[in-house]
Amino acid sequence: MKLFNLGGLILIKIKKKVKSEFEPNILVFCCNWCSYAGADLAGVSRFQYPPNIRIIRVMCSSRVDPTFVLRAFNNGIDGVLIIGCHMGDCHYMKGFEYTQVRMDHLKNLIKCIGIEADRFQLHSISASEGKQFSELIKDFTKKLIEFGELKIPKKPGIIELEYNCKKK
Ligand code: FES
Repeated sequence: MKLFNLGGLILIKIKKKVKSEFEPNILVFCCNWCSYAGADLAGVSRFQYPPNIRIIRVMCSSRVDPTFVLRAFNNGIDGVLIIGCHMGDCHYMKGFEYTQVRMDHLKNLIKCIGIEADRFQLHSISASEGKQFSELIKDFTKKLIEFGELKIPKKPGIIELEYNCKKK
């Protein structure tokens, strides 16, 4: 009876809800010229997408250092997206191409560490693709919910990696 008076039942329900509905933390790097405008358009057009994302705007996707992604994982982010311009549309000519090459290597590294490679993805969104932006976030969130919370495996080599990331 006391439990009811203190709102205990409600608290139990809240706890159950928190446990059952895992909401992944997602970090999204958007380039200033295309994908950030696409994200903005999604908001203005009221296309729905999960609110659990944090966007960091960079001038070009090539500004994203691979260690930023590793640091994000190290700090409890469950998934990272880099979204740049479509191939050939990058405002810095070859920026997106460089990003692709660099991030392919990073994906392999992430796999070696023991993290699901799809927790990190590279995409292209133009300024007029608000709908595609919201769809991408929805799909990515769904995928991360399937994976569950990120647990970085404690394998030899990870310690050094963490150390190197923290050192910078
Ligand atoms: S400016 Fe968008 S990827 Fe380079």
